[in-house]
Amino acid sequence: MKELLARPGFLAPSGTVGADVSYLLAVVFTVLFLVAWRHAKRGLGTRHHKLILLSMVSMVLYFCGYYYARQLGVLSLESKEGFGGPESVYNNVFVPILTTHLTLVTIGLVMAIYMLFQGFRASEKTGGEYRLKPEPLRVRPKAFKTVFLIILGLWVLFVALRFGSMGKVIAWTLIFATVAAVVSLEKLIEKMLPDGARRHRVLGRGTMVVYALILATSTATYLMLYVIYPAK
Ligand code: HEM
Repeated sequence: MKELLARPGFLAPSGTVGADVSYLLAVVFTVLFLVAWRHAKRGLGTRHHKLILLSMVSMVLYFCGYYYARQLGVLSLESKEGFGGPESVYNNVFVPILTTHLTLVTIGLVMAIYMLFQGFRASEKTGGEYRLKPEPLRVRPKAFKTVFLIILGLWVLFVALRFGSMGKVIAWTLIFATVAAVVSLEKLIEKMLPDGARRHRVLGRGTMVVYALILATSTATYLMLYVIYPAK
């Protein structure tokens, strides 16, 4: 598989099959999300929800593939290998764009999972169509405590069982800490945007903008690595 992904690509003379396929998939998923946004804008709640679910599942599969296919992109952050341009462009343009891209991908993934749960909580199905409920949306204190206890319990289980090496324990701790931080943010979000429908619209638009920026930064990274400054 790795050999196939490393073969010369079809989009740019210096690209690889892995880089080209992963870039094309990134375009497809961003377009799917933007179409889902259009459905929401037209008031087609059920179509919006179905397309969001489809895009989310495909996007998670894509991220698994991305990890294998685009390792070069991530490796390029650690060393200049794979980037054929001048040192100054690498430090001042390439690394900031790639760092922004990876940060946005992380934010985008967290927001997508949050929005998915929020979408179900904030809407109701009437006459076969999902509609946002314009009313305050709060997590009950008891549910809040239960969620925290579940996160804590899972973390203790993972760390106690020591799933793999110390490195993995640290990675799992960071993942659980991120989940706990996002859940804690909910209280702040509830104060700032108490109305569930408004919260879904405001944060949903923010999420869509993040996806558009992910596409822009991955296009820039692709162009720099495989078209403008390919490795010599
Ligand atoms: C990643 C997940 C999601 C994102 C990014 C997202 C984004 C959005 C955005 C941006 C809007 C407002 C459109 C506009 O006025 O500009 C919206 C509306 C809406 N969303 Fe979502 N959404 C997500 C998931 C969901 C889910 C899972 C559901 C249902 C279970 C849902 C149901 C709705 C409904 C009913 C509307 C209102 C449509 C109308 O105005 O009639 N969304 N969403």
